[in-house]
Amino acid sequence: MTVRIGILTGGGDCPGLNAAIRAVVKGSIKKGWQPVGFRYGWRGLIEGDTIELNDLNVSGILHRGGTILGTSRTNPYRSEQDVAKTRQAFKKFKLTALVAIGGEDTLGVAAKLAKEGLPIVGVPKTIDNDLGCTDFTFGFDTAVNIAMECIDRLHTTAESHNRVMVVEIMGRHAGWITTYAGLAGGADVVLIPERPIDVDHVCEVIQQRHARGKLFSIVAVAEGAKFLGEEIVVEKKVDQFGHVRLGGIGQVLAERIETKTGYETRVTVLGHIQRGGSPTAFDRVLGTRFGIAALKLIEQKQFGYMVSLKGNQVVSARMEEAAGSLKLVPPDFLELCKYFE
Ligand code: F6P
Repeated sequence: MTVRIGILTGGGDCPGLNAAIRAVVKGSIKKGWQPVGFRYGWRGLIEGDTIELNDLNVSGILHRGGTILGTSRTNPYRSEQDVAKTRQAFKKFKLTALVAIGGEDTLGVAAKLAKEGLPIVGVPKTIDNDLGCTDFTFGFDTAVNIAMECIDRLHTTAESHNRVMVVEIMGRHAGWITTYAGLAGGADVVLIPERPIDVDHVCEVIQQRHARGKLFSIVAVAEGAKFLGEEIVVEKKVDQFGHVRLGGIGQVLAERIETKTGYETRVTVLGHIQRGGSPTAFDRVLGTRFGIAALKLIEQKQFGYMVSLKGNQVVSARMEEAAGSLKLVPPDFLELCKYFE
């Protein structure tokens, strides 16, 4: 009997997705299995939008950002009809198993479907690195390196103009990218969703730096960071998973810093630059390891599980648990950042 392996990528794209797709496809072919791609996440199953995957069309994609399958934030559980179509797709396309590559939302859907008995395994990805049950997700390392390079660049212009530079970095619920890029790039203040922003303290740090003879400051702020009880969003409209579009915290913070300190302040929003382009070696290797490990989960019939990284070992974890638990930046990282204020 032919073994058919479906593959989809859902949620925000990230560097390393193509490495994972390539690994699932090449690994499947090596085992004599037949891979089939579903386009634009769960929408591909609902609409029956497939793409043939073979050795040829996954070659030359390892170094490419984005996803050759396309992605979307489609949530089949928004309508009974769509979930029914998703279930039917397994029969229609004679799937032995499906590899769902995604973050909390995509894997949350995968976990629910697997609970209903559908043969699904997961591969975790997100630049935010906030998914539970795995030490790292691919995409994160690339985003950190991009953000770090931007902070490096901001230093020279900040220094030349004696300015405060606020840099707004992605991270919806957790400040992993901001913390790592802030530490690696030498930001003077790191602000993340895990702890409310204390503007008085931020201004004090900047003023003390000036008192010590430093004429510029870099403030790294995660887009999801909040002033006490005040969330800044681009628009209140939510996506299919109930998320608002974040953004704008950098601007508000910059205005408050300038008003309070009198120092000229500018803001840079890194935005989707952090998700684009070529993945780092770390993300390519992690995507590759995860892709091959997902096939092992299928062989062991560990449906409802995702591959995950613990230390440097690829292991597995229940998708339901991973999707339902946010991995926040622990307090010791915040304490570490304080040494450099
Ligand atoms: O989930 C990853 C992420 O990049 C978040 O950091 C960010 O808030 C969100 O996606 C942006 O989503 P979109 O690309 O849909 O605007």
